[in-house]
Amino acid sequence: MPDLSNMTVSIERAAAILREGGLVALPTETVYGLGANALDPIAVAKIFAAKERPFFDPLIVHVPDIDWMPRVVGQFPEIARQLAQRFWPGPLTLVLPKVDAIPDLVTSGLPSVGVRIPDHDLTRDVLRLANVPVAAPSANPFGRLSPTTAIHVHAQLGHRIDAIVDGGPCRVGIESTILQIDDSGVTLLRPGGISLEDIQSLVGNVKLPVSTVSESPIAPGMLASHYAPRTPLRIVSEAPSSVASTRTGLLVLCNSAAFTQFAQIEELSPTGDLVTAAANFFQALHRLDSAGLEEIIAVRFPENGLGRALNDRLRRAEHHSSDRSST
Ligand code: TXA
Ligand code: MG
Repeated sequence: MPDLSNMTVSIERAAAILREGGLVALPTETVYGLGANALDPIAVAKIFAAKERPFFDPLIVHVPDIDWMPRVVGQFPEIARQLAQRFWPGPLTLVLPKVDAIPDLVTSGLPSVGVRIPDHDLTRDVLRLANVPVAAPSANPFGRLSPTTAIHVHAQLGHRIDAIVDGGPCRVGIESTILQIDDSGVTLLRPGGISLEDIQSLVGNVKLPVSTVSESPIAPGMLASHYAPRTPLRIVSEAPSSVASTRTGLLVLCNSAAFTQFAQIEELSPTGDLVTAAANFFQALHRLDSAGLEEIIAVRFPENGLGRALNDRLRRAEHHSSDRSST
């Protein structure tokens, strides 16, 4: 694998590679994305190949500002306008009817497309210079931990992509909140970097899908097994006072000083702040996953604010573990 320093490029070079149909990992405030020209089906196909991602899982399209919306979506209703005004640039994806120019491969054949304006100056500059909307899923192999540093991207996908723009660690640290907007109103498809409470305070009622964890490809990207470390992970309400193996790791929000029974402890925020916890979440899981542990025990987060998105990611990681132990 080439050095990270040989893979990092300037924004001008990144834009040129995107225009030529290549793959560039881009920093955003949520996680690093693996970008390709969203209007070029061959370039988009390379994303699926590099990630080994199934074609039924649609991609989010990134644009630098609101004036670009007509290049991606066919309608932009008033409620979308309000959400955009409040939360963009930022960790919010809106699913809206797509324009014909967006290939079916991007949307897995759906008539709608997920679109967002990321809150990262480098990436917005790359998008403007490339002058094309960019499809970008998280820059990790399908189902694995999301990358929040350029080093994570390089370690997991460096041999399969053309370049990386290094924008430092991601500020928010978990993926965008995804909202579908249609005649029936606003539906939460994925909890993420903007809390449900903040969205409800702006738009009122938000519908929650029957289950946010599903095996069915009809609920794209909401696969039960996702965001998973290689090490088996188990969720608990409270850290256990004793553990079976000396090679057990602990992921916990705060108050970890009392625990001596774990081989490695990742405390996400000494003050119990969920925003800080989200920013540290994937980095902590990457560290635990590379520590040669037998099991990771994760203490459930409070189910409010960003805790909802963090618990969602934990459930998917745990589901992945139970998949493997049953086969
Ligand atoms: O924060 C993020 O959203 C990051 C950064 C890179 O922007 N991206 C990201 O992409 O998390 P990805 O591919 O890991 O997740 C995209 C998910 C899909 O799995 C699906 O759940 C949803 O977005 N999605 C995209 N287009 C959709 C559509 N047309 N209808 C329903 N869901 C859609
Ligand atoms: Mg992802």
